[in-house]
Amino acid sequence: MDTDNNNLTIHEGNVTIKVPKFEKVSAKAPVFYNPVMELNRDISVAALTVFSRNHEGDISICDSFGGTGIRGIRYAKELKGVENVVITDLNPLAVQFAEENIKNDQIENVRVFREDANIMLRRCRGKFDVVDIDPFGTPAPYVESAAAGLRAGGMLCVTATDTSSLCGTYTEPCIRKYGAKPLKTEYCHENGIRILAGFIARTFAKYKKYMNIMFSHSTEHYMRIYLTVGKGAKKTDESLKNLGYVAHCDNCLNRALIKGMVPQIPLKCPVCGESLRIGGPLWCGPIIDEDFTAGMIEVLPQINIKEEDKIIKLLKTCYKEASAPATYYDLHKVCKNLKISAPPLLNVLEMLKNAGYFVSRTHFEPTGIKTDAPIEELKKIVLNAKKSSIKD
Ligand SMILES: C[S@@+](CC[C@H](N)C(=O)[O-])C[C@H]1O[C@@H](n2cnc3c(N)ncnc32)[C@H](O)[C@@H]1O
Repeated sequence: MDTDNNNLTIHEGNVTIKVPKFEKVSAKAPVFYNPVMELNRDISVAALTVFSRNHEGDISICDSFGGTGIRGIRYAKELKGVENVVITDLNPLAVQFAEENIKNDQIENVRVFREDANIMLRRCRGKFDVVDIDPFGTPAPYVESAAAGLRAGGMLCVTATDTSSLCGTYTEPCIRKYGAKPLKTEYCHENGIRILAGFIARTFAKYKKYMNIMFSHSTEHYMRIYLTVGKGAKKTDESLKNLGYVAHCDNCLNRALIKGMVPQIPLKCPVCGESLRIGGPLWCGPIIDEDFTAGMIEVLPQINIKEEDKIIKLLKTCYKEASAPATYYDLHKVCKNLKISAPPLLNVLEMLKNAGYFVSRTHFEPTGIKTDAPIEELKKIVLNAKKSSIKD
């Protein structure tokens, strides 16, 4: 990052942009730029590289919350097979800077507008193969316009930074924005992605469109989902069968995802008999696609990335957890429940695997364990791991 009197010059990926100097990263900055989101943009370039590689013909992209324009400019410059990029932002200074940045980067197939994202998406209905929604806070007010406008075979990329709602710190805002009750648990970040995904699936369904999630992650202060869109009433009905609820027992940590719009959810935990807490509706289907993630790992060397190790580690963990069951246990939470200190995580993972259970780590939580072992089995294995670590 270089500075002159009034502006900062930022080098990111293959582009160089200018942004007015700001005191701190905030929605109140004259033009919004967050260096922490460079990783998000790098991952977006990887995801769209895989998408455009699999797509027939060149793609048309809408960066509907442009800010400095960096995201859209990077897409135009770093992806192959881009027909055009449309950037829109409500802030006139952002539009001015985005225009300057496009000129300085000498890119021809990008246009900038000062227009509300919803109006742009409605006005250009059917024109975009990719819509990127990267607002301040919740994307909820914009998903419907993307649903109406995205072509079948297209891709939607969505960021949500209202994680305190999606993760259940605040219940009412989540109900208000997403029509779902969040659940504060050790796996609340996964629940958050599933609530957002469920909301998107229901919104798309109104247009007889369904989604397949290609990739999703929760990093720092945000969640991000990449999904492809299909069309057809029958397939949409089938896809909606992935909606359901999560039932969680605070007493013994048992949990289950129960599919269905109005499923029979037990009120008492089948393991310990205590009351269950219920969250949802949420998406119970896959939230990471193994092949797509493998494609992202493959294309990474083509991208000019600063935090390469961090991104490779994230994508490799996501690749492994793609086929894992929903929700995860946190070793520390399980140990607190058992009133013991934690044995080494790797020993627990190994013992689960030797006992024939699925096991993987999760990008959501460094001490998280994804497994199909029931909670009583997991607890036995954790206790055994503890015993053998004391002997050692
Ligand atoms: C989080 S920033 C976008 C950051 C940008 N995508 C990036 O990667 O650097 C959100 C941007 O959306 C703009 N904005 C807010 N409401 C909008 C709306 N309804 N339509 C279009 N732009 C909007 C803001 O001016 C701000 O520049």
